[in-house]
Amino acid sequence: MNMPRVALLNNSKLRKGHGLKLQTELGIPSFHDHPLEKFDFILELTDTQLQLRRQIEGKPSVGPVFCDFNKSSLDFRRRYSKGKQDLLRAIGGNNKKVLDTTAGLGTDALVMAFHGCRVTAVEKSPIVFSLLRDALQNDSLPPDLKEILGKRLEVINSDSIDFMKANKGKKKWDVAYLDPMFFVKSKTALPKKEMAVLHDLLDRPSEEEIRELIRQCRTVSHRTVIKRPLRSTCTEKPSFSIEGNLIRFDVYV
Ligand SMILES: C[S@@+](CC[C@H](N)C(=O)[O-])C[C@H]1O[C@@H](n2cnc3c(N)ncnc32)[C@H](O)[C@@H]1O
Repeated sequence: MNMPRVALLNNSKLRKGHGLKLQTELGIPSFHDHPLEKFDFILELTDTQLQLRRQIEGKPSVGPVFCDFNKSSLDFRRRYSKGKQDLLRAIGGNNKKVLDTTAGLGTDALVMAFHGCRVTAVEKSPIVFSLLRDALQNDSLPPDLKEILGKRLEVINSDSIDFMKANKGKKKWDVAYLDPMFFVKSKTALPKKEMAVLHDLLDRPSEEEIRELIRQCRTVSHRTVIKRPLRSTCTEKPSFSIEGNLIRFDVYV
């Protein structure tokens, strides 16, 4: 896909100023100023959330998708799924200092922060980052969750390769975590709608980019964890793997 064309639709009465700030920051036009132009994506600001919708030929197609820490955290409180247990085992347990190099919509980062980890979550796409940041600032988060996220989850908009190069050799993190795949169905992956929208918005990282991410992860942390499709191959044998039904976590120590 060519560079996706994204416009901001400011439907918020309470956050009008924030909409203008977002537009400038992301360098995207206002949907209202270009009614005839056909955008691929509409980033819609409402009073309560920021959400992204896919358009095809000027008509709403899939979505909206948004980052909902409220709902995700409720799910965690209710269920402690095998996928989440596997992730926590792979990173070596609770309370770790983790660099999440592919933050996405923050689901894995939230699981880790929820279980006592201090997480630095880095996201390359400015649009995905804006969804993530908006969810963290959401006023309707319950106070205990707001406190956990405020203390334990930091989000950064950067290419992780650049971010790690800038932190090279410092081994600041216990664990560096890498989840490059929006493209595999699994019980822990994002629901269909999110996958469909993000699949169209984002470029899939090349094999070389993934290899470089892994190399850099190993310079800044003591343990590297990579989420992969269950049956995928890898050039370097991991120290051990934790296998689920459709995905596995490869752990390099
Ligand atoms: C599969 S998603 C991660 C999903 C995430 N684990 C979650 O739980 O929501 C992959 C994300 O990594 C981001 N990404 C890919 N390469 C990156 C890089 N070099 N630096 C930072 N983010 C990157 C993509 O933009 C995408 O949002």
